[in-house]
Amino acid sequence: MDTGVIHIPSTNEGLLEGWQPHHHTLFGQHTMKLNHRLTESGLFTEAVLSDLIDQYPRALYNLNTLGTDARKKNWRDGHLDGVSGQEAIEAIKTGHLWLNLRNVMQVDKRYDKLLKGIFADFENKVPGLKTFKQNMGILISSPKMIVLYHSDVPGQGLWQIEGRKRLYVYPNTAPFLQQESLEGLILGETEEEVPYESWFDDYAEIHDLGPGEMVLWGLNGPHRVVNEDCLNISVTTEHYTSEIRKSYAVNYANGVLRRRLGYTPATNTTGGLSPYAKAALTLVWKKLKLNRKREVVRMIDFVPDKSQPLGYRDIEPFVKA
Ligand SMILES: [Fe+2]
Repeated sequence: MDTGVIHIPSTNEGLLEGWQPHHHTLFGQHTMKLNHRLTESGLFTEAVLSDLIDQYPRALYNLNTLGTDARKKNWRDGHLDGVSGQEAIEAIKTGHLWLNLRNVMQVDKRYDKLLKGIFADFENKVPGLKTFKQNMGILISSPKMIVLYHSDVPGQGLWQIEGRKRLYVYPNTAPFLQQESLEGLILGETEEEVPYESWFDDYAEIHDLGPGEMVLWGLNGPHRVVNEDCLNISVTTEHYTSEIRKSYAVNYANGVLRRRLGYTPATNTTGGLSPYAKAALTLVWKKLKLNRKREVVRMIDFVPDKSQPLGYRDIEPFVKA
C-alpha cells in the first residue's frame, strides 16, 4: 500500500518538540517525556487506519482481549476475518480489546518514511547514536483497557496519538525485572510478561500521556498501561543499537547456559564466557533451532463484534498460524 500524500515534518522542523540539551545523556538509559508531531502526517486518522486494517496481513497483527480477572495473565487472541477496519475500530471503541498493527513500516511505505524520520531525528540529536532494526506498531485500544506488566527486548518508545493513558515504568533491575525473566523473554519462553507485585507501584515512574506526547525509557524497563475512559490510538517504536544487540546476545546465551547446560551465569554481562563467546553461542543455538520446542503456542478464539458488550464474540478456537 502506498496511497495518498502525507506531510512528514522535515528534519529541520523535527518530529520531536521539547528536546533539551541534556536529553542526549538520558537516551536509552532513563525515561524521557517529549512532545511529538506525528499526527501532522495524517497517517493516524480513523479513516486512514480503517483502510490500513482492511488490508493488514493476518501474520502482522495481534488482536487481544483480557479475561475479566485482570490480575491473571489471561490474554486471548482474536482475528479480523470478515470484519472491516471500520467495524473493528467501532468494536474497540465500546469494547474490551486491543489491536496491535505490528511492523506497519513493512505494510505501508508511508509509515516506513515516518519511522525513518523519527530515528533520523534522534540520531541528529544524540551524538554517536546509530540505530537499526527500527520498528513501528500502531496500537488501537478500548476505553479502560490495560496492558499488563511486561518488558520488551529492544529499545522502546510510546507515542500517544488519540485518547489518554497512564504509563507506569519500573526500574529495569531486580526485583522489578529478574535476570531469569529477561532471559526467558529473550528465549521466547514467555510473551513479554514478567512477575509483578502491586507494591512495585511505589517505585514506578507515572506518566499521563495525551495526544502529541511521547515517552522513551531505559532498556528492558518493565511497564504497564491503563487507558482512561476513551478510545486510545498510540504508536510504539522499537530500535536496536550495537549495545542493545550485545545485551540481547549475552542474555540469550546466559538463558541457554542456565536452562540447558545447568550453568548459573554470574552476571548478565561477564559471567563465565566473554560477551563475544556468548554472542557466538547465541548465533549457533539459534541456527540449530534448539530452542524452538519451548516457544509459545497461541489459540485464536474470538472476532470483534460491536453488538456485544465487550466488543467481541467467541468462535471455535484454532491454533494461531
Ligand atoms: Fe511494551
